[in-house]
Amino acid sequence: MFIPLKTDETWIEIHDSIDSTNTLAKKRAIEGVGDCYTVVAESQSMGRGRNGRSWHSPPAVNLYLSMVLNINQAAAGIATLMGAVAVMNSVKQLCPRPELVQIKWPNDVLIDGKKIAGVLGEFLSERPDCCVLGIGMNVNANISDLPDSPRWPATSLSIHLGGDLDRNTLLSSLLSELRSLRGTLESDRDSILEQVRKNSATIGRTVVLDSQNSGTIKCKAIGIDKDGFLLLQGPEGKMTVVAGDVDIVQDNGYY
Ligand code: BTN
Repeated sequence: MFIPLKTDETWIEIHDSIDSTNTLAKKRAIEGVGDCYTVVAESQSMGRGRNGRSWHSPPAVNLYLSMVLNINQAAAGIATLMGAVAVMNSVKQLCPRPELVQIKWPNDVLIDGKKIAGVLGEFLSERPDCCVLGIGMNVNANISDLPDSPRWPATSLSIHLGGDLDRNTLLSSLLSELRSLRGTLESDRDSILEQVRKNSATIGRTVVLDSQNSGTIKCKAIGIDKDGFLLLQGPEGKMTVVAGDVDIVQDNGYY
């Protein structure tokens, strides 16, 4: 159960169950809500992930929220990376080994190599000055609550830390990280990008790029540029990945 936060509550609404916090936040954005307006839900019946995937959203164990950002177009590219940094920072505060919390480009948060959170940034044709940042975080989910993916395993904070967490405290810490980073999005984007680079699970790894023209290509991830795009060294030279996913080749050869 989420208790209303001790804060200015005009910018947050909390639901027991809705289809998707991103869908409702987009509606609120069109209605004209202010910057950082946030929708939170205990469960979602149609939670969305990136690339048309669904986001498994069982009730009362995890965090599902979406924040409306009124940003200029120049900042749009790194808004979703900012979401991943906010999640990473709030999770690091809880972990005895914070170095295990990393960002897999573009915006998954991993703990010890397993996914605990994903960020979905969506833009609105009706409001080009606006982005909705959706965050799903596995908090107290147990193994049976998690999607089954042998290729890229998922975990939750409670599985990793060995005990249930207070989701209200975590929500409050995540919202303050988001609001504080939001303040630097236009003025100091380099500091956000630097945090992504320093904590990247992708840079330095062999990755597989699914290219529409040439099928899958194995490359080395060599950096993240000033726009937040992934830089790859491929068999035929350097490439920049602007959007989409790349898979990291794991030690067991899976990707
Ligand atoms: C991904 O890793 O594919 C991104 C997952 C994003 C899921 C969150 S849960 C809250 C918000 N509402 C949605 O429908 N999706 C995002």
